Amino acid sequence: MLIGCEPSQKVPVLSVFPSTASSLDLLDCAFYLGKLKMQTSKFGPILVLFLLGSALFSQTDSGTKPPGDSSGEKMAEDVYKDIKVFKGFPAGQIMPAMQFMNDALGVGCNHCHLKDTYEANNANKELARTMIRMQFDLNKTVFGGGRAITCYSCHRNEIEPPTLPPVGEIKQRTPEEAPATAVLPVDAVLQKYLEAIGGAAVVSRISSRVEKGTISFGETHSPIDVYCKAPNKRMSDVHSAEGDSITAYDGRAGWLGGSKRAAQLMSPEENYAAGLDAQFAFPTNIKQAFLRLRPWRAEKIAGRDVNVLLGITTGRPDTKLYFDKETGLLTRMIRYAETPLGRIITQIDYSDYREQGGMKVPFRWSLARPGAEFTVQIDQVQQNVPIDDAKFAAPMTTAGNPEQRGH
Ligand code: HEC
Ligand code: HEC
Repeated sequence: MLIGCEPSQKVPVLSVFPSTASSLDLLDCAFYLGKLKMQTSKFGPILVLFLLGSALFSQTDSGTKPPGDSSGEKMAEDVYKDIKVFKGFPAGQIMPAMQFMNDALGVGCNHCHLKDTYEANNANKELARTMIRMQFDLNKTVFGGGRAITCYSCHRNEIEPPTLPPVGEIKQRTPEEAPATAVLPVDAVLQKYLEAIGGAAVVSRISSRVEKGTISFGETHSPIDVYCKAPNKRMSDVHSAEGDSITAYDGRAGWLGGSKRAAQLMSPEENYAAGLDAQFAFPTNIKQAFLRLRPWRAEKIAGRDVNVLLGITTGRPDTKLYFDKETGLLTRMIRYAETPLGRIITQIDYSDYREQGGMKVPFRWSLARPGAEFTVQIDQVQQNVPIDDAKFAAPMTTAGNPEQRGH
């Protein structure tokens, strides 16, 4: 059962497929693609592969104001048929906003839409519009234009927001865990990281990498190959029974493709996230990924102290990088996707660092965001393997197909 959402149907960032172990079409290991399950009792569980725009986590929250069309990205009303409340927001933020509502209310798409008729209106969709307007109004009139209130503030994963505080269950409020230790300067954190993975001299001599492993969405496992080339090219290829699924960044543009789907360019936000991932494959480049880095409050992850750096880029999300205080290794990256309703968090945890060719790389990473999780376990890494640039090149740009979303 295919519920539409192919690029041709002008829903470029979402695919819905039946829930079979082999149904994963659009898999990612560039960290910004997640899978979510639609909780639908009528149709049975369905897998939705959902491409998440990159994170817009700026210190100065733009609130509910549409960020504008500076990137030349299409607006929601130019792409979709019946946009009323999301007029003026970038088209690329609409699917993340839908996902936000799914998560905030604990429902599937079919709570507000009937199969294949997303533009059709019904009572629930209208009610959601009323709620969206209420959220916008509340934030504007009561909370000074920020985004203090979202669907989740009231709904807490439930259709019907609770009206009474719970009894009989004493919520354990953990005191601020963050250790009050001195914040390390950026260069000290990066220096320690580089030393931990083999030292700048060794690391800077590594200019390409091929990784082979397994990507797991819950109980669904598929082989995955990851190709990285310095300074910032990256391509991952998931081989599922449904065919190959490619996520790539050619150093400038990101694209998605595969044996069964037409290649398409990423939106500007997706592109940014893909670029980050490509750059992070070669850690001597981390600084170049951001306008600047600055130290952030130290935190704890699973009881371990971490140094946190904030990656700042103009007009883009701040990204949080977590480095283990003791080992120096990068253990987590957090970024946020902007939607008209609120941000969607994406957390990537890196682990199982092993040395290969003098450099330590994470053999395992997990991506988690609301309703979406996958883990990649690498079992074979080769450094400095020659990789042809053609591997990363978008077929539609090389073939001269002008179908571009964004840029
Ligand atoms: C809580 C209700 C709700 C949920 C859940 C929801 N949507 Fe929507 N959806 C809406 C509303 C409201 C609009 C209209 C937005 C507007 O008026 O600007 C909309 C619009 C859309 C549109 C644009 C249709 C068009 O052409 O005008 C698409 C596509 C869509 N939704 C897909 C989805 C998908 C896929 C999911 C699940 C991931 C989903 N929605 C979940 C309420 C919802
Ligand atoms: C200020 C609190 C608040 C916020 C914010 C809020 N809601 Fe609600 N919502 C409610 C309450 C309360 C109800 C239940 C109304 C009732 O019981 O009649 C409700 C009901 C709903 C329902 C109907 C549920 C049903 O019975 O089918 C939908 C759909 C819904 N909200 C969607 C949203 C969406 C989407 C957002 C974010 C854009 C949102 N709400 C934000 C308080 C809120």
